[in-house]
Amino acid sequence: MDVDFHVNSNQADAVGVLLEQNSVEYKVLFDNLQDGINAQLDGQKSKRHSYTKYNTWEKIAEWTREMAKKYPNLVKRLDIGGTTEGRPMYVLQIGKSGTSRRAVFMDCGIHAREWISPAFCQWFLIEGEEEITELLNSLTFYILPVLNIDGYVWSWTEDRMWRKNRAPTVDEECIGTDLNRNFNISWCEIGSSDEPCSEIFCGSAAESEKETQNVANFIRSHMDSIKAYITIHSYSQMLLYPFSYTYDPAPNSKELDEIAKEAVHKLHSLYGTSYVYGPSAFTIYPTSGSSDDWAYAKGINYSFTFELRDKGKKGFLLPESKIKPTCQETTLAVASIAQYVISQY
Ligand code: ARG
Ligand code: ZN
Repeated sequence: MDVDFHVNSNQADAVGVLLEQNSVEYKVLFDNLQDGINAQLDGQKSKRHSYTKYNTWEKIAEWTREMAKKYPNLVKRLDIGGTTEGRPMYVLQIGKSGTSRRAVFMDCGIHAREWISPAFCQWFLIEGEEEITELLNSLTFYILPVLNIDGYVWSWTEDRMWRKNRAPTVDEECIGTDLNRNFNISWCEIGSSDEPCSEIFCGSAAESEKETQNVANFIRSHMDSIKAYITIHSYSQMLLYPFSYTYDPAPNSKELDEIAKEAVHKLHSLYGTSYVYGPSAFTIYPTSGSSDDWAYAKGINYSFTFELRDKGKKGFLLPESKIKPTCQETTLAVASIAQYVISQY
């Protein structure tokens, strides 16, 4: 497979030589990563919250408050607990009062640097109106716009390429647990690391992290209604379903494959963006302790991971000008999954 990686400028020449000596084909995506960081904010200049810009956590938090105020009959803001650094984690509950016990849970921003992901959760709620209004007659959405808030803030203020949360570890030098390796499913086995300095550090125990606990507790206490779990990442253009921690097929893998096929087809219909889909372990790589496998093991039969645009050209630094088309097409895919869920219950 293709692998994208980042090297310090003082090592770049040596790495180039090594690749050549070993006849590894390669291409330079960013000659200077800072140029890409500077280029991502190419949208309208504006100080306000905007659906077509990347918003700071402050703006997103304020936006959740405004949504609940503006649409009191449709949107409720729930606080599911604090992050490591004490920021409240907000879930927006979207639904008509008195409607069904069926719900879809969707989180964004479990990995800090994947900025298009929180942008999508915000978009889906409002700009996705046309697609979701009808779904709301039979479904509630629980939307967690930023799961890893401390990491997201860090990616704005200190290190744009930050992935993990910001919790201290036993190693003073190394901060952060990969929250998508911290769930209680085959914890810290394949595709994860027990080294605190690793980007895929699994944490000191399953659910050791506040962020993981809050999400897991929320889902556990809404198990009677949540029928689907969707988690949004970037990048690669993939739609993944369980399992990730094993190459064995999931019990309903044929059904999951059909749902993914249809969702990807809908997504493609808008701008021709191609996604690949399939079981995580084969389609991207195996991981353990991931939220999608955990939700699935809990009994949520429809569990999906999206890897949004692009395929590496801009990677995590997807320009703001791509937010709108990316979110529009993804809305079609998520709506298609939700539609299927409705048809089943
Ligand atoms: N890119 C994500 C990660 O490394 C997801 C990888 C696939 N694993 C999964 N459980 N869906 O955490
Ligand atoms: Zn990710």
